[in-house]
Amino acid sequence: MFSVPDQASDLPRHIAIIMDGNGRWARRRLLPRLEGHRQGAKAVRKAVEYCRRRGIAMLTLYAFSTENWQRPKSEVSGLMELLSQYLESELDELHSHDIKLMTIGDLGSLPHGLKARIEAAIDKTRDNSSMILNIALSYGGRRDIVNAAVKLSRALKSGALAESEVTEEMFAGCLATAGLPDPDLLIRTGGELRISNFLLWQCAYSELYFTPTLWPDFDESAMDQAVQAYRSRQRRFGKTSEQVEAGQGAI
Ligand code: FPP
Repeated sequence: MFSVPDQASDLPRHIAIIMDGNGRWARRRLLPRLEGHRQGAKAVRKAVEYCRRRGIAMLTLYAFSTENWQRPKSEVSGLMELLSQYLESELDELHSHDIKLMTIGDLGSLPHGLKARIEAAIDKTRDNSSMILNIALSYGGRRDIVNAAVKLSRALKSGALAESEVTEEMFAGCLATAGLPDPDLLIRTGGELRISNFLLWQCAYSELYFTPTLWPDFDESAMDQAVQAYRSRQRRFGKTSEQVEAGQGAI
């Protein structure tokens, strides 16, 4: 089981980000798409620094979806190379800041060298406890739910579990994010208003924040605006605002 650090209660404990707009950032400058992704990796560094500095316990980044395999081969291999370079250049820094690296998604589908590098990085940062950086790689929310359903159906079939014992918590425990808190805040940059198969189950009650800012331009002050927007909202989890104000909130 993972443990997530404590933190100030009005800050999101877990921020998840759909980092969109790298391609458009590059196109506007007449640069190749990969240059947009390169600048995107710099924005990743800023987002991690922001979270670590503010004491946000967990950051999940949607770096590569199951659907992204359909992109041109050169872009896919460029992205894989970039992820590998990111780990090479950032791992010591992440480790020295006590940040634990995790991934969700199908690591088995990644190039062997990248997979090995990720596994070594996960291993190195295993005992770090100030923050979790979770990278979604070859991840799809529907696939995650199907995998969980298969796990549960095996337990039902074998008789280890009865239908009446199946709970939402148990289902969540079969997802890639088992043991981790759901995102409090889901940010999508790049102006599109959709979730694109990201953390479908886990975002049931996340606060959504959409911004036209392209991911490479999403700096610490943009991140801070998103966090301030989150802090100004009332999370009701199906209750009335009167109930929440009377201290019967679901948090
Ligand atoms: C979406 O923008 C972005 C991606 C599919 C890749 C995200 C990858 C990075 C930010 C690079 C490195 C990541 C890490 C974790 C180091 P898009 O290409 O769809 O942009 P567009 O909609 O403008 O074309």
